[in-house]
Amino acid sequence: MGRLENKVALITGGSRGMGAAEAQLFAEEGAHVIIGDILEEQGRTTASKIDTPDTRCLFERLDVLNVSNWKSVIQTIVSKFGKLDVLVNNAGVTSRKMLLDTSEAEWDRVMDINCKGTFLGIKTTIPVLKNSGGGSIINISSQMGLVGADYISPQYQASKGAVRLLTKSVAIQYAPNNIRCNSIHPAPIETDMTAEVRDNPEAFQNMLRRIPMARYGKPKEVAYAALYLASDESSFVTGSEVVVDGGWTAQ
Ligand SMILES: NC(=O)c1ccc[n+]([C@@H]2O[C@H](COP(=O)([O-])OP(=O)(O)OC[C@H]3O[C@@H](n4cnc5c(N)ncnc54)[C@H](O)[C@@H]3O)[C@@H](O)[C@H]2O)c1
Repeated sequence: MGRLENKVALITGGSRGMGAAEAQLFAEEGAHVIIGDILEEQGRTTASKIDTPDTRCLFERLDVLNVSNWKSVIQTIVSKFGKLDVLVNNAGVTSRKMLLDTSEAEWDRVMDINCKGTFLGIKTTIPVLKNSGGGSIINISSQMGLVGADYISPQYQASKGAVRLLTKSVAIQYAPNNIRCNSIHPAPIETDMTAEVRDNPEAFQNMLRRIPMARYGKPKEVAYAALYLASDESSFVTGSEVVVDGGWTAQ
């Protein structure tokens, strides 16, 4: 018996990286998974590798900033599976320019995808979770949603800090509906998002010096935290923040 047996989970940004690792692990634990992403080809390939007759894994095109995309993905999920139990708001983007080099357009892009995209997902999904008798919303924030940094533009931190507190308000407002909402705060993880830094020896060493465990995390190390929050094992956990950062924020 898997830890997510018969649950239905929607994971945004699941075509690659941490979202793909979560899709794989959730399916191994018995869930049906829907990957929603703008990376279509990669998303279809990822989903087809995970898909089995017992635990379905489907790809749906979803731009987290597009309300009609959200509505149609939710409609597809309900018509195929009859319910939704878990939403992982994982889609996100970063930006590496310093504050004075950051344009308004770049500020808006990062804030919109990371923060407004999460809001739209929660807003569209809550009615379905209510109809399903409750559920678990997992918002992927960052260690940068907890502390500041001296080496990148602050809009990434601002967007992830906003996700942290959005999470807590949703947790309080929908606790009576048995809908839990928690955030995960990963620190540098080996994905495409961090490839540029890892490929630059000097930048890479600078990052390693900031991490007490002196290494990047693996996507699966974050997926295990998401698995706990998605499962009924965390049935009394809401409005909380799970930090998976190799000790970054312990300093
Ligand atoms: N990698 C890290 O070190 C790290 C650390 C802390 C937090 N995070 C967060 O974890 C999440 C996953 O990041 P990752 O490292 O796997 O990055 P990634 O770049 O490998 O994956 C991000 C995914 O989000 C998708 N995406 C981007 N914009 C989208 C949109 N508008 N609609 C739908 N999908 C969209 C991308 O297509 C991609 O598949 C992000 O929210 C990121 O901010 C990453």
